Amino acid sequence: MARRTDLPKFTVPSLTAEDGAAVATILQGRLHALNDLALTLKHIHWNVVGPHFIAVHEMLDPQVEAVRAMVDAVAERIATLGVAPKGTPGAIVAERTWDDYSIGRAGAIEHLGALDAVYQGVIESHRAAAAETEELDAVTNDLLVGELGELELFHWFVRAHLESSGGALSTNGAVTERGAATKASAGAKS
Ligand SMILES: [Fe+2]
Repeated sequence: MARRTDLPKFTVPSLTAEDGAAVATILQGRLHALNDLALTLKHIHWNVVGPHFIAVHEMLDPQVEAVRAMVDAVAERIATLGVAPKGTPGAIVAERTWDDYSIGRAGAIEHLGALDAVYQGVIESHRAAAAETEELDAVTNDLLVGELGELELFHWFVRAHLESSGGALSTNGAVTERGAATKASAGAKS
């Protein structure tokens, strides 16, 4: 890892300034992902239409609330490590490595198919961040692992709508959010 020039003036006891900065950098990526997820969940909450409207509309608000709590915990861990967390929309857009959610007004199954892909991406990156912090900082690792449990539960809530009685997912094999939405809506019609 390249040596940083903008090291924190302090970090948590027992960590070097370099390690504190490295953990904060990993967390900043998760902060962007969780802020983006909370906004995307609200966007779906407002744009879902059709016969399953109320089920999906109401399922999403507790997820928004939980993800916002994760945002707060991650940002405060960054500050605790002696680094300034970045929570502005401009910073998210400038630093994120994924595209904006691409679906506007659409049916429940289409949004849930796309949301399956969204959760897939967020959870994979969260797992990777948890693995990277395992040696560096057990407290951050514990925070991320706890969040993973909740994120995976919410992912299951979404996937249960896309699952056949045989246990297969209609979005299986999709590589993009739009592809997942198309597969999910085709699966619902077959
Ligand atoms: Fe609402």
